[in-house]
Amino acid sequence: MKVGIVGAGMVGSAAGYALALRGGASEVVFVDRSEALAVAQAEDVAHAVPFAHPCRVRAGDYDALEGAGVVILAAGVAQKPGEDRLSLLSRNAEVFAQVIEGVQRAAPEALLLVASNPVDIMTQVACNLSHLPPERVIGSGTILDTARFRSLLGGHLGVAPQSVHAYVLGEHGDSEVLSWASARAGSEPVARFAAQVGAPITQTVRERIDAGVRRAAYRIIEGKGATWYGIGAGLARIVQAVRDDQRAVLSVSMVTAEVEGVRDVALSLPRVVGREGVLATLSPELAPDEAQALRTSAEVLKETAGQLT
Ligand code: LAC
Repeated sequence: MKVGIVGAGMVGSAAGYALALRGGASEVVFVDRSEALAVAQAEDVAHAVPFAHPCRVRAGDYDALEGAGVVILAAGVAQKPGEDRLSLLSRNAEVFAQVIEGVQRAAPEALLLVASNPVDIMTQVACNLSHLPPERVIGSGTILDTARFRSLLGGHLGVAPQSVHAYVLGEHGDSEVLSWASARAGSEPVARFAAQVGAPITQTVRERIDAGVRRAAYRIIEGKGATWYGIGAGLARIVQAVRDDQRAVLSVSMVTAEVEGVRDVALSLPRVVGREGVLATLSPELAPDEAQALRTSAEVLKETAGQLT
């Protein structure tokens, strides 16, 4: 499957690199307003291909996106140290107005995979501008936060993150919700698993893990200026679920008719992802405080999105 990547910056190039390494695409096309950057990223990623899987990697203009099954939208500005994701909205919404027009002209059938922050609202912007059905406009959402949650929780419990089934819901941002009530390790609720392995999840442990997830990007940005490897791998994971029609359950963002009483808002819930995009949305079991936090997250997104109209 041909994958387009619009925005050849750190996130877009990391996604292309991850796709090349995991064999997630037969062709990757980088598009960027800086042709030099797109060409350089394409050549650099192409040099990884001999160590990985066959994949044609090149740079091009929007016309080169023709026939793409998925187009990753990674164009726009990224957070600066201390800046929150929602503050990027107006600048990136302007960028998307041009980007979506170019993508739709070349690849009207492509599924859109939004990475630019604030990713939930940018997903709604892309859905509105493209006039595609919501199920074919997916935001990376909290797929990375969920990975961070699973990694930290698995580390505490002494199990692989792949054996931890826990989700982060709502905004990919400060109001996100770590769902402890629905978290499982193997087949066990995490509290039960923790008791069995002698690693109780105390309030201190919960607070440490919560901060470890919620503040991860801020810490990394302070140290290296941006994040890209984690999100690049998350984007490649979503592409593979689409390409192989995996029907994988992933916490991704999509315009959702109603969440905890809030209507028409894009945020992350566990969703079944396959070739046609989002095939189903799940409603995880939430503790009362988690349900309220999810409503608050939806309200934050709804109010911020309203600033665009
Ligand atoms: C992060 C960016 C992708 O959380 O928002 O690392």
